[in-house]
Amino acid sequence: MYRYMFLISILFFTACEQKSHSNLNGKQLLEQKCSKCHNIDLPPKTFQDEKAPPMMAVAFHIKDFIKASSESDKIPKSIEFVKDYVINPSASKSFCDKKSLQEYGVMPSQKGKVTEDELQAIAEYMFSHFTLKNLTEAQALQNRLAKMPKGERLALQNGCLSCHKINQELVGPSFKKIAKHYEGNISAIAKSLKSGSKGKWQGYRGAVMPAFGKRISQKNIETLSAWIAKSNKEIKR
Ligand code: HEC
Ligand code: HEC
Repeated sequence: MYRYMFLISILFFTACEQKSHSNLNGKQLLEQKCSKCHNIDLPPKTFQDEKAPPMMAVAFHIKDFIKASSESDKIPKSIEFVKDYVINPSASKSFCDKKSLQEYGVMPSQKGKVTEDELQAIAEYMFSHFTLKNLTEAQALQNRLAKMPKGERLALQNGCLSCHKINQELVGPSFKKIAKHYEGNISAIAKSLKSGSKGKWQGYRGAVMPAFGKRISQKNIETLSAWIAKSNKEIKR
């Protein structure tokens, strides 16, 4: 009997836990309700005349300064702080330093513009997204992108590398093979990038090369094509 009681209480407890976890889309709500004033990029962009501190700074700040009895209590307490602050902001509650607070002015209350449920979702998202781990990863990716030749960066960002590799066959022919075929003729590569193709190359099981003419600017098509044309010689991996 006791065993069953125990089981039931666990079930009840987990059900409650799940209920308190919001099903709303916190990321989307943050964009809609907060990004007018707070920059929400990770890592954040800062501007000369920004209206509010970047959201990453807000999240880091609150987690640093919030009073909590234990580490695991920090996030729930931080979420409560956000939910209260957005509706009832004040200079005395703000963790912003005096100078910044003067520059920005106290945040105007968002009462009536965001519901409690929405705020719960926003705050949960804030403290799961703006973390040191995610920041480090985002910076590592930015560094990787910054070091790449522009053409390779464009290939990564436009999803080319899900079908092509430089040296190996994937869904489509390797860029090296394409470069060889077109013998460095950049404008021919650019032309085929724009219009896409199917069945031109043998051995790819009728897979389709999508047309990119409407999705990628002419300038970027040229950069990509020049990079592909060179992949025959310079890029070795
Ligand atoms: C109209 C502009 C504006 C909007 C919209 C806005 N904020 Fe703010 N917010 C500010 C300003 C300015 C500050 C800095 C001054 C302060 O701390 O009150 C701030 C500060 C905060 C703080 C306190 C930071 C600290 O370090 O104590 C939190 C939390 C916060 N905002 C959350 C939000 C959330 C969540 C949303 C979206 C629901 C939002 N804000 C929408 C302008 C805005
Ligand atoms: C969905 C998979 C897919 C994606 C995404 C894709 N390709 Fe292709 N690509 C192919 C296939 C398959 C072929 C061979 C098509 C054929 O046989 O006509 C091909 C062929 C090509 C060719 C040779 C075309 C020709 O006319 O000879 C070039 C150049 C090329 N891709 C570049 C790119 C670039 C650059 C991107 C990103 C902007 C890209 N591809 C994205 C699958 C893809």
